[in-house]
Amino acid sequence: MNVLMLRWLCLLTLSLPLLFWVGHVMIRDGPSPAAGRKALEGYTRIKPGRTDQILDINCSQCALVSSSGQMLGAGAGEEIDKIGCVIRMNNAPTKGFEKDVGRRTTVRVVSHTSVPLLVKNEQYYFQQSAETTYVFWGPERNMRQDGKGHIFNALLKMAKKYPNVRMYAVTKDKIDYCDGVFQNETGKNRMKTGAFLSTGFFTMILAIEMCDSIHVYGMIDDGYCSRANHSVVPYHYYEQNRINECKMYKVHEHTQRGGHRFITEKAIYAKWAARHRIEFKHPSWSL
Ligand SMILES: *[C@@H]1O[C@H](CO)[C@@H](O)[C@H](O)[C@H]1NC(C)=O
Ligand SMILES: *[C@@H]1O[C@H](CO)[C@@H](O)[C@H](O)[C@H]1NC(C)=O
Ligand SMILES: *[C@@H]1O[C@H](CO)[C@@H](O)[C@H](O)[C@H]1NC(C)=O
Repeated sequence: MNVLMLRWLCLLTLSLPLLFWVGHVMIRDGPSPAAGRKALEGYTRIKPGRTDQILDINCSQCALVSSSGQMLGAGAGEEIDKIGCVIRMNNAPTKGFEKDVGRRTTVRVVSHTSVPLLVKNEQYYFQQSAETTYVFWGPERNMRQDGKGHIFNALLKMAKKYPNVRMYAVTKDKIDYCDGVFQNETGKNRMKTGAFLSTGFFTMILAIEMCDSIHVYGMIDDGYCSRANHSVVPYHYYEQNRINECKMYKVHEHTQRGGHRFITEKAIYAKWAARHRIEFKHPSWSL
């Protein structure tokens, strides 16, 4: 054996443990739950010239605050603000509702249909809310990145104007994956049944990937609206003059085209609560 071969052998022996170590770290940082910092796949950074496909986030305990009228009078604000990461949806406000829903927003998951509402109040969402990471989801026709997705274009414009804001889009692959999750859990094809997944569904999947434990506030279970004594609350805590929550859920559950299967989705969450650390409050679920 000559000296060169010996050197190579030596190098190989030294680098093998390193290779295993790197592999181990990469697996640990994958989408499976691990304490603290995580690098999640399926989310693209919205930033001129950037193409990162990874969402970096450090959340162990999360509060997922629903937009439901159940939050009115919940008085959970202080408790929510003490939890490491606070997740909210769409344009659900904190101002004026702090006592019930808290003040902080770590992550806001936003539907393509709510983007114009955020842009209308851009100073608040993209400048004042410096702590917040945004995750936008929508169909390919609105979110495509070739210049033809008008919602994506509007977001890119915001990203140029407010370069410090952390904005991500759910990738098409990830959206297809979420459809697959729905189909596997229900045995029904989401598109064939004429339904759209709700922002809540994407949020719950993100929360499970991102958080080691989740405290869900203001979400009702799938049997709630069938109980004779159920509370009648607004669909959203911040919109008083709308149809009430249970009426809205029933309309959506049975509509032929374009509905959200809110009740079916809640039954899926109940199954997930058996496999992940998820706790439901205001109202609490008996699982
Ligand atoms: C994640 O956040 C926790 C609590 O805020 C902090 O103690 C920890 O150092 C952070 N970890 C990383 C890797 O940033
Ligand atoms: C759905 O189930 C099939 C068959 O078990 C599996 O191959 C696929 O990975 C599942 N998809 C998702 C998104 O869980
Ligand atoms: C309705 O009644 C059930 C059983 O009596 C009780 O557990 C539940 O808390 C009640 N729900 C409401 C909203 O009052």
